[in-house]
Amino acid sequence: MRKNIHNIKIGNVKIKLIKDTKVFEPNLTTFSLIEAFEKFKIKKKIKILDLGSGSGIIGIFLKKKFGKKIELYLSDYSKHAVKIINSNLKINKVTGTIKESNILKEWSNEKFDLIINDISAISSFVAKNYWYNKYIPHDCGKDGLKLSKKFLNSVKKNLKKKGTILMPVISISDHKLLIKIIEKNFKSKMLVNKEWPAPKNLIKDKVDHFLNRGYIFKKFNMYLCFTKVYQIQKKDNL
Ligand SMILES: C[S@@+](CC[C@H](N)C(=O)[O-])C[C@H]1O[C@@H](n2cnc3c(N)ncnc32)[C@H](O)[C@@H]1O
Repeated sequence: MRKNIHNIKIGNVKIKLIKDTKVFEPNLTTFSLIEAFEKFKIKKKIKILDLGSGSGIIGIFLKKKFGKKIELYLSDYSKHAVKIINSNLKINKVTGTIKESNILKEWSNEKFDLIINDISAISSFVAKNYWYNKYIPHDCGKDGLKLSKKFLNSVKKNLKKKGTILMPVISISDHKLLIKIIEKNFKSKMLVNKEWPAPKNLIKDKVDHFLNRGYIFKKFNMYLCFTKVYQIQKKDNL
């Protein structure tokens, strides 16, 4: 086995990913989105867009788990990520249509049954020091919502009639505002709610600042963050 490959097992699904520090490394949010699929029954063939795809892990997982029932589309704003997605699809022997796209820009003529929006969505002040680096786009604004707002503003035209969005809401953002925007414009349901320890070297001397912003909260004498996965549809569909 080549040394530069990560082997990942999710349930019965085995995935190979090229190790590359210039591409987002799958984390708890990735696996929370994947976990949300436990609540989904895929009966007929559906068209899925994996947006902010990074290594391509979520799309690859879906294709391996559900096979021909999935018509897969993937995109990322990073040219390098797009190259890696291409290679990762090949080494996992799955097929999909891949594009370099700023949010939904290059998908203007397509409608999907399901869009997984995993585009960067934490405060860019945190992102620049944690999880991201200069090669991984994270222009998500001080409140973390810049790209999520743009996505939610334009996504309806890319959804089929009963189309669904899956997206994370992460505490390290103005999550109250994000949930307000979602609830005002869409029907939504929370499918997954994970609490996880705030990394010590992330909060260091900034505990009060992070508590005030709601990026972290205190429970059982620990500082925690959360990742919630929302299922979102146009009103009247959920
Ligand atoms: C949190 S990572 C998720 C990656 C992958 N889905 C995973 O779980 O490992 C966010 C991804 O969004 C991409 N991204 C950032 N800004 C973007 C934009 N404006 N349009 C599309 N993708 C963007 C980044 O390159 C990165 O790969």
